[in-house]
Amino acid sequence: MTPEETKRVQETFKRLEADMDHVAAVFYERLFALDPSLRDLFRGDLEEQGRKLMTMLKMLTKAIDELYAIMPAIENLAFQHVRYHVKPADYDTFGKALIEMLELELGADCTPEVKAAWQQAYTEISSLMKEAAKDVVW
Ligand code: HEM
Repeated sequence: MTPEETKRVQETFKRLEADMDHVAAVFYERLFALDPSLRDLFRGDLEEQGRKLMTMLKMLTKAIDELYAIMPAIENLAFQHVRYHVKPADYDTFGKALIEMLELELGADCTPEVKAAWQQAYTEISSLMKEAAKDVVW
């Protein structure tokens, strides 16, 4: 991440955070529209899950230029997702839903530069998660 990309991600996240429940609901709506089969993986209350997702995104975006510092948390998250039956390909769908949510929520502020910064951030996080999950045998 360049310093500019880091700034773009952190600044736009602040806006999303202001309406966390709504943003999370839009995100899951887009995720299940892209792949309805993913709905079955979510067993608990989706609103509660949305808050967990946003809290995790807050931590990740805060540390986006120093992800190595929170590697244990990233690994732990990756391991949990293996248990939730999340497959490597699902990370692509998740990333697409994230960008679609940004487009809907940020409107005109979702510039190509902002989108590229989020894409870069998500690629870095999801690559670390997929790498950590690769050798898990339960
Ligand atoms: C950067 C990527 C991701 C982040 C930050 C993230 C974040 C989270 C968090 C914080 C939780 C809650 C864990 C807990 O209960 O302590 C969770 C659960 C879950 N995530 Fe993710 N996730 C990501 C990617 C994915 C992907 C690609 C999928 C695939 C569809 C997915 C599906 C799930 C499911 C099914 C649960 C369990 C929900 C339930 O118990 O009802 N996540 N995620």
